Amino acid sequence: MRHFLDINKTTPQDLRQMIDDARRIKEARQGLPRGTADDDQPLAGRMVALIFEKPSTRTRVSFDVGVRQMGGQTMVLSGADMQLGHGETIADTARVLSRYVDLIMIRTFEEQTLLEMAEYATVPVINGLTNRSHPCQIMADILTFEEHRGPITGRKVVWCGDGNNVFASFAHAAGQFGFDLTFSGPPPLDPEQVFLDEARAKGVSVDIERDPFKAVQGADLVVTDTWVSMHDPASARERRHNQLRPYQVNKALMDHAKPDALFMHCLPAHRDDEATSEVMDGPNSVIFDEAENRLHAQKAIMRWCLGG
Ligand code: CP
Repeated sequence: MRHFLDINKTTPQDLRQMIDDARRIKEARQGLPRGTADDDQPLAGRMVALIFEKPSTRTRVSFDVGVRQMGGQTMVLSGADMQLGHGETIADTARVLSRYVDLIMIRTFEEQTLLEMAEYATVPVINGLTNRSHPCQIMADILTFEEHRGPITGRKVVWCGDGNNVFASFAHAAGQFGFDLTFSGPPPLDPEQVFLDEARAKGVSVDIERDPFKAVQGADLVVTDTWVSMHDPASARERRHNQLRPYQVNKALMDHAKPDALFMHCLPAHRDDEATSEVMDGPNSVIFDEAENRLHAQKAIMRWCLGG
């Protein structure tokens, strides 16, 4: 049984297999209506629980569609509606769900909830986002980069903004896929040091550059994310906006990156805050390919979890 908990907890060989599978899965469906079943039905007769303790559009829809295309069925569960939110332990919930379903995807707040679910479940568990990481998103982003620009190994990725959970998964991926990573944001919103140290220990360059215009020089990919994450208090909004405004990704900033540098944002975005609409809708933006690739990448992840 294989859990997909984080990119740094999965071998580079398995990650590469998943990306290559995702590409094949995507190519095999070119031109088919979304509701058409895949030729291959690895989830036939299988039931997948999709648990959401936080809101979601992309994760919810892409997992649901992906399971159905592979022949399985889903049940979408809100954390608030489950006994999980009313005192039942995560361990008991994991053991009970494992008697009903073949796979669990969970989006939750605390990383500990995910880890405990995986410890006690007897079926594979997939991390659909925690406050600390978002590995499914970054698998889709690697797939997207490689579709447009070829292998990501040896490239330069620049993150502008908050050192949040999505950045953390980019740092995990830097170590596993072998690309250089620069973080450019204000000191109070630096990522946890452990994410930087772990990637560096795998031989890639991970830098902090406070000047975003210097940071993006030579960048193959510029990435940003919302300035106020789902787990941040609403009271932090004004302070964060003031801290992060110098790191907005706009045309002037993109003009300092390589001319063919891609722009990514995992969405949802607050247009003209963290990135301008000019960049988001511009020729170097691949934000909707990223969103589509959640579907293909997660199908490959689910196949891997089930031994495919
Ligand atoms: N990027 C992402 O995870 O989107 P959702 O929050 O809509 O699932």
